[in-house]
This record gives sequence, structure tokens and C-alpha cells, in this order.
Amino acid sequence: MRKITVVGAGNVGATCAQRLAERELAQEVVLLDIQEGIPEGKALDQWESAPVEGFDTRVVGGTSYDLAEGSDLFVVTAGLARKPGMSRDDLLKTNAGIVRSVGSEIRRVAPDSIVVMVSNPLDVMSYVAKEATGFPRERVVGMAGVLDTARYRSFIALELDVSVEDVQALVLGGHGDTMVPLASYTTVSGIPLSQLLPRDRIDALVDRTRKGGAEIVGYLKTGSAYYAPSSASVQMVEAIARNKRRILPCAAYLEGEYGEEDLYLGVPCKLGEGGLQEILEVELTQDERQALKKSAEHVRTTISTLASLEG
Ligand code: NAI
Ligand code: 2OP
Repeated sequence: MRKITVVGAGNVGATCAQRLAERELAQEVVLLDIQEGIPEGKALDQWESAPVEGFDTRVVGGTSYDLAEGSDLFVVTAGLARKPGMSRDDLLKTNAGIVRSVGSEIRRVAPDSIVVMVSNPLDVMSYVAKEATGFPRERVVGMAGVLDTARYRSFIALELDVSVEDVQALVLGGHGDTMVPLASYTTVSGIPLSQLLPRDRIDALVDRTRKGGAEIVGYLKTGSAYYAPSSASVQMVEAIARNKRRILPCAAYLEGEYGEEDLYLGVPCKLGEGGLQEILEVELTQDERQALKKSAEHVRTTISTLASLEG
């Protein structure tokens, strides 16, 4: 790709920019933020690492969308984390406002671009981004499933003392509490996890994954996870930029798949040139189907809450 812009130069955004540059996924990486000085400074610092790391991707930062003109792809990490005294609804409304303004700027400076959403609450912010850009669903996808799946895989590898490379899993649904791990699609070099671990151990790993974001916040206190989230975001960008046609769990806009429509939900997606190339509908057990429905209901309720707050 020629240019990738990361919006939000905070923890996730800056780490994404660094990983994108180190992998040379574009000729230029632009880091944007509203806080003057931060994107300029972080971008320059990253560019100064180029001679040592050996990458030629130019990294530039600033506050003006002029820098992002003609970008092929945006990673949107702009948003606030919940602060003391702030309700979930306050956060929802504030971040939706931020994502709406970011989305309209994206449409203005790069109407043919692809957007990978990261800001929380992820499934709803992806919906807002699609509305704000007016882009088709192929060009607005959300990152959550790759992170939740990576956490799950990392815990399984620890538990079994095997390489993470051999652990394959699929986690669907909304990000966090309502995620739906698919037991029958979790394997270690093709061996179903159920043959390697008893049910109660698998349940414990699933529970830890569900609470994975909170576990990190519990340690960091003043912020949330960003190393694994940036890795997950960059994996999605790489699949698109290199047209890898990878099958990854992503938040996608559903139009009848899995019996749902007009909302974003984590489902298996094929990512490649152009963005979302296909949504795969896999067989689910009765319990998994129920859990996915519950997850969709949660997302739908949050979309309605936002509509009433924005009234
Ligand atoms: P952070 O607070 O470190 O960075 C956010 C940045 O956004 C700040 O630098 C802020 O100045 C900037 N910002 C605010 N309004 C902006 C605007 N209108 N335009 C451009 N930049 C703007 O937060 P962090 O840790 O980087 O997280 C970013 C977002 O990603 C949060 O909403 C967080 O909850 C979410 N997240 C989502 C994950 C997922 O799995 N989808 C995983 C991790 C984080
Ligand atoms: C996480 O799961 C905060 O959504 C973020 O770490």
C-alpha cells in the first residue's frame, strides 16, 4: 500500500504505527491525533528507529487530515477510556461523537479507503464508522475477535505447554463479556482441545479470555491493553495490504448471516484486497447459536441506547 493512517496516537495507535512501519506494510504511515505535539513526536521518534530496525516506511505525524489525504487504509483508535465518574453511556456518547467526526474526515480525504475500527465499544463504533463514512461493509471492519482469539490461544498454549503456533481457535460474537468461543473449532495441531483438556479447565480458560481486557486494566490501573491489541489490528491490516485472504474473526456488518442484520458482530471473515471479501457461515451447536444471539442482542441494545442518547 502507499499510505496507511492511524487515527489516535495513544497507546494502541502509536504501537500500531510502529508495527506497521517495521513490517513495511506501506510506503508511508501517518499518525494523527487532536493533541498537538504527540503525533509529531511519536512519529519522528519511530522514524529515527528506522536505520536501526531497517525499515524504509516513512512515519509522519500531525493533527491535520491533509497528511492523510489519499490513504489506502485507516486504523481508527481515537477515543477515550472510561474515566472515574464517567458512566458507560457517557463514554458511548463521547466516543461515538469522536468516531463520527473521524469518519466524516476519512470520507472527505480518502473516499475509497478501507477502515479498520479499534475504538470501543468496538461493535457499536464500527457501526457508527460505517454510518459516518457511508462506506460499504467491505470497507469497514472491526478488530476484536483476533485479539480475543489470541488471548485464548495464548492461555491454551501456557496450559498445555505447547507452541502458540500449534493452537488454532475461533472466538465469535461481541468483544469481551459476550464473546462466543467455539469449542469444536479449537484444536492443537488438528487435535480437538476436548481430547487434551478436561471440560472444567477449558471453561476456566474461556472465562479468563472473556475477562482478558479487565485483567490487563487491573495491572496497568491507568490504561488498557495495547501490545496484543495492536498486534491483532496489524494482522488484519497485513491480510488486506498483502491480499493474503486470511480467515480471521472480525466484526463485520451482517446482512442476514447467522440470522442477524443491521449490526456489527464478530464472525469468521476472509480479509484481502478491498477489505472484507467474504463472511463464512460455519455450523454452530444449539448452545453456540444461543450465545451468539445473546451477544447480538447486547450489541443491538447498545446501538439503541446510543440512538436515544443522541436523540
Ligand atoms: P489512549 O487514551 O492511549 O489513546 C487514545 C487517543 O485518541 C488519545 O491520544 C487521544 O488524544 C486520541 N483522540 C481523542 N479524540 C480524537 C480525535 N477526535 N481524533 C484523533 N485522535 C483523538 O487509548 P488506547 O489505549 O490507545 O485505546 C484507544 C481505543 O481503543 C479505546 O477506545 C480503547 O478502549 C480501544 N481498544 C479496543 C480494543 C479492541 O479489541 N477493539 C483493544 C484495546 C483498546
Ligand atoms: C481489551 O480487550 C480494552 O477492549 C480492550 O483489552
